[in-house]
Amino acid sequence: MSRVLIIGCGGVAGVAITKCCGVSDVFSEICIASRTKSKCDALAKKLRPNTQTVITTAQVNADNKEEVIDLIRSYKPELVMNIALPYQDLVIMEACLECKVNYLDTANYEPEDTEDPKWREIYEKRCKEKGFSAYFDYSWQWAYAKKFEDAGTTALLGSGFDPGVTQAYCAYAKKHIFDEIDTIDILDCNGGDHGYPFATNFNPEINLREVSAPGSYWENGHWVEIPAMSIKREYNFDQVGKKDMYLLHHEEIESLAKNVPEVKRIRFFMTFGESYLTHMRCLEDVGMLSTVPVKYEGVEIVPIQFLKALLPDPAELGPRTKGKTNIGCIFTGRKDGKEKSWYIYNVCDHQECYREVGSQAISYTTGVPAMCGALMLLTKKWNKPGVFTVEEFDPDPFIEALDKYGLPKNICEDPVTVE
Ligand SMILES: NC(=O)c1ccc[n+]([C@@H]2O[C@H](COP(=O)([O-])OP(=O)(O)OC[C@H]3O[C@@H](n4cnc5c(N)ncnc54)[C@H](OP(=O)(O)O)[C@@H]3O)[C@@H](O)[C@H]2O)c1
Repeated sequence: MSRVLIIGCGGVAGVAITKCCGVSDVFSEICIASRTKSKCDALAKKLRPNTQTVITTAQVNADNKEEVIDLIRSYKPELVMNIALPYQDLVIMEACLECKVNYLDTANYEPEDTEDPKWREIYEKRCKEKGFSAYFDYSWQWAYAKKFEDAGTTALLGSGFDPGVTQAYCAYAKKHIFDEIDTIDILDCNGGDHGYPFATNFNPEINLREVSAPGSYWENGHWVEIPAMSIKREYNFDQVGKKDMYLLHHEEIESLAKNVPEVKRIRFFMTFGESYLTHMRCLEDVGMLSTVPVKYEGVEIVPIQFLKALLPDPAELGPRTKGKTNIGCIFTGRKDGKEKSWYIYNVCDHQECYREVGSQAISYTTGVPAMCGALMLLTKKWNKPGVFTVEEFDPDPFIEALDKYGLPKNICEDPVTVE
C-alpha cells in the first residue's frame, strides 16, 4: 500500500501510470502531476473505471522547486517518479531531499540552455574533465549521493530500458553468467515504422540532442570520442532483421564503466534509417536543433522547441507504428577459465503495446521499467539510501518483474558479436 507522486504525463509517463494502475495492491494511491493538468485529468478519467488505484491529479511546474515541495508536502508520497524531462531532475531531487522522499527518474540530468554563455563556460570545463562532450552526464546527480544517504532516502536514476534494463542485464550477466566480463555492446534496434517521413519516438528535443551529439565509447579506462554517426555497423536482429546501427554516446556507459570496472570496452549502438539521418542533418544544418532563442516577428522562439511543436507527438504514434524493437546487450568474457559470449535482449511489438496500453513500444519499453523500478523501491526489494543506478542493485527481482509485466528477456548463447 503506497502513495506515489508521478510528475509528467507524456508518452512514457502514460505507460508507467497505466502499468502502476495494474498493480493497485502496491500503487494504492497515485497523483499524476504535470505542467498541463488537462492531460493528467484525461488519463485519470480513462484509467479510473478499470483500477483500484485511487488517482488524483495536480498542476505543477517542476522547474520551480517551491512548487514541487508544496505538492510533496500536501500529497505526502513515499516516492516521486520523475517522468517529465531530464531538465527537471535536479529540482525534483532537491525537493525530494527537502521532504525526505524517495526519487526515481528515467534519464540523467542535462541543463536545458547549453548555449547560454553561463552554461557554455561550465559545460566546456566539464567536457575537458569528463572526456566526452554529451550535454548529459551523471556527475550532476551523483553529487547528491551523500545528501540522500544522510536523509536515509534512495534516488534511483535511469529506470527506463536504456538506461535501466540494459544495466540490469549487465548485473545479471555478472551475477549468473561470467566470472569476468571483457566487453559489453548495448544494441538498441527500433524496427518500427510509423509511416511519417520524420518523427521521433520520444520527446523530440531530448532525442535530437542525444543523437546529433558526438559519439563516444569506453575503452581501456578512458573515453574515445568520435564525430556523430561516424561508426556504422550492420546487425541481424532477432525478429526484426538486418539494420544499420550507429555508435552513440549513451549515459549508462558512464555508470557501467564505474560499476563494472574490469570491463575493457563498452559501446552503445542505435539503429537509424537513411531517411531519419538525412532529415536530422538537414534540420541541424538550418539551425532547427538549436536551443538559442531567436526573435521572429517580435516573438522569441527556441528553434528546437518550435520544431517539437511541428513534429508528431510521440505519444500519438501508437496506432500507426508497426514492427518490433529489439534492445539488449552482448557480453564477452570468461567463466571457469573458458571464453564465453552471451546476448540478453527483449523484443517488443509496437502493435501489441498499442493494444495493451495505447502506446508505441518506445514509450512502453521505458514506462514498464519505470513502474518496475518503483515497485522495487516500494516493496523494499531495493532498499539502500543514496543515489544509485540500476546495476547497483540485485537484478533478479527487477528482471522477474519485467518478465511478468511485459518485457521478458531472451538469451542467446554464442551470438554473432559486433566487430
Ligand atoms: N531510459 C530510457 O530508456 C528512455 C527512453 C525514452 C525516453 N526516456 C525519458 O523519458 C522522459 C519522458 O519522455 P516522453 O517521451 O514521455 O516525453 P514527453 O512526451 O515530451 O512528456 C514529457 C512530459 O513532461 C511534462 N513536463 C515537461 N516540462 C515540465 C515541467 N517543467 N513541469 C512539469 N511537467 C513538465 C510535459 O508536460 P506538457 O504536456 O505540458 O508538455 C509532458 O507531460 C524523458 O526524460 C526521456 O528522456 C527514457
